[in-house]
Amino acid sequence: MLIDSFDREVNYIRVSVTERCNFRCSYCMPEKPFSWVPKENLLSFEELFKFLKVAIDEGINKIRITGGEPLLREDLDKFIKMIYDYKNDIDLAMTTNAFLLKGTAQKLKDAGLKRINVSIDSLKEEVANSIAQKKVLKQVLAGVDEALKVGLKVKVNMVPMKGVNSDELIDVLEYCKERKMSVRFIEYMENSHAKDDIKGLKSPELLEIIASKYNFKDVGLEASSPSRYFELDDGYKFGIIEPYGKDFCKSCNRIRLTAEGQLIPCLYFDEAMSISDAIKRGNIDEAAQVLKEVVKNKPEENRWDENDGESSSRAFYETGG
Ligand code: 5AD
Ligand code: SF4
Repeated sequence: MLIDSFDREVNYIRVSVTERCNFRCSYCMPEKPFSWVPKENLLSFEELFKFLKVAIDEGINKIRITGGEPLLREDLDKFIKMIYDYKNDIDLAMTTNAFLLKGTAQKLKDAGLKRINVSIDSLKEEVANSIAQKKVLKQVLAGVDEALKVGLKVKVNMVPMKGVNSDELIDVLEYCKERKMSVRFIEYMENSHAKDDIKGLKSPELLEIIASKYNFKDVGLEASSPSRYFELDDGYKFGIIEPYGKDFCKSCNRIRLTAEGQLIPCLYFDEAMSISDAIKRGNIDEAAQVLKEVVKNKPEENRWDENDGESSSRAFYETGG
């Protein structure tokens, strides 16, 4: 079991397989970065898997594949199958923008993927396409339908932004409710890579909008999820993720691995240690040591407040959001 210095059990790793993305979302990667990580610096799927075996043996039982956009990396289903074949009861999930899901959902499901999280920030074509700076909406919605059809569980993320999509909260909620997908509204997190004119809605504003049409009650935090859940009268639950909230870090159970092999204890924290050398040399004990060290170094809380909400220079598309 991996326990950090604040007695939290770390059983969840988010693995970014690429920082590249085919979207340019205003709140994440509005411009193509000056340079991408050179391909030769990326860990191969075999190398990432070697490390994941160490992590699973140490007590990790939940793995989420992230990016950038993970489906940009070829043979992702083979990577998923490696993990599934090693331990099939791992909670194996992926965060994707869904653009490439239509042709791949079945393969991913067959390989052992159980769940996906998808962003739907708008259901209006011009708005969705302007947030992602690409004609995306039709293909994203087709990808979501396909994922549901093949039996993947789907959760939807929406980042509500003033003057952009704040009039669509109820539409997105109802779209998800009809399809029995849970939706989580994520408070916009400031970061230096995003467009600088974005104003996110905070949770009281979000709740007020939903309350204009629905009654709901607060059913609290779900175990080891950063989301606070609310239940409508008919039992449908939606979530709000408040990274600025005071309890956000209390039940944090996660660490992150970048595509280059940097192991990161907290999203808003610059310190990281590389497992790349140890894995490339096949030194499993050393990789396990680095993992334990990183878990030990997990900070008690994120460092939002120390630096005007900008405590890590790393972009979310590098760390897997
Ligand atoms: N603020 C809030 N959420 C963000 N995401 C990416 N960047 C930000 C940000 N600045 C979320 C999106 C997407 C997921 C990959 O990360 O909701 O669904
Ligand atoms: Fe790509 Fe996701 Fe970032 Fe949008 S939020 S640019 S889809 S990584």
